[in-house]
Amino acid sequence: MKLPHRYDFLLETFENHLKTAAPAYFEPPSLRKACTYSLFAGGKRIRPVLCLACYEGLTGSEISEKSVDILNCAMAIEFIHTYSLIHDDLPAIDNDDFRRGKPSNHKAFGEAMAILSGDALLSAAFVILADTNAPIEVFRAFSYAALGMVSGQVLDTCPGENTADFRHVNALKTGLMLALPFETALAITGAMDENQAVKNLGLTLGELFQITDDILDCTGTYEELGKTPGKDASSDKLTSVAVLGLEGAKTLADSLAARCHHFIDVSILENKQFFADLTTFIHHRKT
Ligand code: IPE
Ligand code: IPE
Ligand code: MG
Ligand code: MG
Ligand code: MG
Repeated sequence: MKLPHRYDFLLETFENHLKTAAPAYFEPPSLRKACTYSLFAGGKRIRPVLCLACYEGLTGSEISEKSVDILNCAMAIEFIHTYSLIHDDLPAIDNDDFRRGKPSNHKAFGEAMAILSGDALLSAAFVILADTNAPIEVFRAFSYAALGMVSGQVLDTCPGENTADFRHVNALKTGLMLALPFETALAITGAMDENQAVKNLGLTLGELFQITDDILDCTGTYEELGKTPGKDASSDKLTSVAVLGLEGAKTLADSLAARCHHFIDVSILENKQFFADLTTFIHHRKT
């Protein structure tokens, strides 16, 4: 399953920006080493690329290395996402030894540094926004997404919450961080109030993304995923696959993908084909 053509260009532009700008946020060098280890461990960069592509789709202009404001916002999103993965892998949460094809952060640097790397990445994201003079709507979107993601992780992880509704958990733990790139692009371009279809696309893509993650946990290999498969079943997680079975989860993924295509069609995005191809990638991905 191939990613859309423009993905490569946006990814390369983002990677160059990250390489140049990210390390300077972290002091002392031991913290820099641990944060950059996870940042450059080979993530797909779906969220930052979505942010850049949504910006292109709303403005009709092409991203370049000079598009510093939106590149900084995309970097801040990837910082928060990377923090969420480092903490998600901790022994007290999912206890995962591998991430992005490498030992997870706490395996490489110890638990104290992994916790602090996550703290630093989250905090640095807001430093980036402040230094970028991002509008208050961007701060609001980041704050709500980061806070809601933690609520989702609590429902996913901590016993006693008694949540039978995996869709609610998914919407919080994953949906909000996939909607954030769209909200950021909307806020930066001053189009926040007019584009419900774009926001709905982000939330629905997020739901689809977590369902395919659940399916891959059951069907994928370590080589494809870069993380240990079968963890959800062995940890008794309340995933879409646990509740609906594999076929039921695939049917739900089909209907979420159809909803994404609908929101793309009715949105004002100019690059509809990019988002249609990306939806198909997320739906049928193997990585
Ligand atoms: C994994 O996200 C965590 C989930 C929300 C399911 P990704 O699959 O986007 O992870 P990377 O960034 O490519 O490693
Ligand atoms: C992670 O969900 C959601 C986060 C907020 C990080 P998972 O626990 O299913 O993600 P993986 O499978 O470890 O990447
Ligand atoms: Mg988890
Ligand atoms: Mg996990
Ligand atoms: Mg998972």
